[in-house]
Amino acid sequence: MAAAANAFRLSVASPKPAAAASSPDAFVRPETLSFCSSAGGARLRRSGGVACSASAAAGTARFGVRASATQVMDKSASEAGSKAPTTVEVDLGNRSYPIYIGSGLLDQPELLQRHVHGKRVLVVTNDTIAPIYLDKVVNALTKGNPNVSVDHVILPDGEKYKDMDTLMKVFDKAIESRLDRRCTFVALGGGVIGDMCGYAAASFLRGVNFIQIPTTVMAQVDSSVGGKTGINHRLGKNLIGAFYQPQCVLVDTDTLSTLPDRELASGLAEVIKYGLIRDAEFFEWQEKNMHALMARDPSALAYAIKRSCENKAEVVSLDEKESGLRATLNLGHTFGHAIETSFGYGQWLHGEAVAAGIVMAVDMSYRVGWIDKSIVTRVDNILKQAKLPTFPPETMTVEMFKSVMAVDKKVADGLLRLILLKGPLGNCVFTGDYDRKALDETLRAFSKS
Ligand SMILES: NC(=O)c1ccc[n+]([C@@H]2O[C@H](COP(=O)([O-])OP(=O)(O)OC[C@H]3O[C@@H](n4cnc5c(N)ncnc54)[C@H](O)[C@@H]3O)[C@@H](O)[C@H]2O)c1
Ligand SMILES: [Zn+2]
Repeated sequence: MAAAANAFRLSVASPKPAAAASSPDAFVRPETLSFCSSAGGARLRRSGGVACSASAAAGTARFGVRASATQVMDKSASEAGSKAPTTVEVDLGNRSYPIYIGSGLLDQPELLQRHVHGKRVLVVTNDTIAPIYLDKVVNALTKGNPNVSVDHVILPDGEKYKDMDTLMKVFDKAIESRLDRRCTFVALGGGVIGDMCGYAAASFLRGVNFIQIPTTVMAQVDSSVGGKTGINHRLGKNLIGAFYQPQCVLVDTDTLSTLPDRELASGLAEVIKYGLIRDAEFFEWQEKNMHALMARDPSALAYAIKRSCENKAEVVSLDEKESGLRATLNLGHTFGHAIETSFGYGQWLHGEAVAAGIVMAVDMSYRVGWIDKSIVTRVDNILKQAKLPTFPPETMTVEMFKSVMAVDKKVADGLLRLILLKGPLGNCVFTGDYDRKALDETLRAFSKS
């Protein structure tokens, strides 16, 4: 840890280039990317640093919205009288795939079966979810499809098991069951299961087909989409993994009925994030509808999931491997990961840590003068409405933050890049060009020295 801490200190202490004036906008390195909210979709501007505005259109690369939400009427669904799912497409050329969103989708076997390759399926789940949903999923995979045989592996539940030992249990089962390259892995559960199953699918026999059936808000709005898979290392979260896209994501919103309240709120942190980084209209909708989301109003939840998936799908379509734009999905995560890692995986839920991290990122954005105070207040209010933390655990120290942040994946050449809000609501930048003092001040304001 000592080396890591030093690496961070180096980056924090590194002086601004001589040419830098007092305004952080006066020195802009090429890697700075600005992301603007607009009715037509995301706008990405390279080598900017100034806040986005309509007049700053010169040099703006405009991208159309490639993620589209459509109603797809499935034949079996229409026969059974079930409601057609909403489909959001993740547009990645020959790795494109649909996200199906709706109620009762696990009762529509055709939806799932069309994405199964081969005759062998391995369902990866955990000991909390298996008693509730495993039979239903096995039924959806096999109904009217006697040629398919389904094995399953039930992992221990919890972020602290998102590690190499638990991953090996998936490989043990796959190898003992003599699965071959034509098999399909199915992730049934929250983000922990989705990330682990996806990584197992990416590496078993150098890559097999896989399907995501997310059962938490967190997984339905974020982790099941976009192909980031992996496990934790004791020195940092998600440090080992692969980009590996599923064949489809099936979001049966009925599964949320059994989700504990705290988990529901945790997922809403990511929903709030989409509004802040790129979708002001969605944020405003959330301000009006947070009580409905907290009360699990089905249509409010379905809308929030759809809109979140559209945002994520669009970002992933534009920047699958995170060369810039995709990093903005990590608003608050650098601070949040430090909380998760220092505090022990699983003590604070991912979304809870991200919520406190978002408050810190917003505080820093205000300190560097990039956003109005009103945004700080609105963020605080909406997180409180969602019953999410707005302050890190009391035991966190500045040094704890620094040592974990030093090994963050967004450190490049010893420089920690952060996602900060800049300009009107719905706009952000991913940059290493910020006043180091502001970062220190934020850390001191939110933790013990
Ligand atoms: N890959 C990505 O892009 C990405 C994005 C965001 C988060 N993540 C990862 O996702 C993980 C967090 O995911 P999470 O919040 O879903 O946590 P989780 O997977 O631990 O699930 C939360 C808890 O809810 C239980 N559960 C799940 N579905 C349930 C249901 N329908 N009914 C009752 N209980 C249910 C689980 O067993 C678990 O106890 C973290 O590891 C994080 O790093 C990954
Ligand atoms: Zn997250």
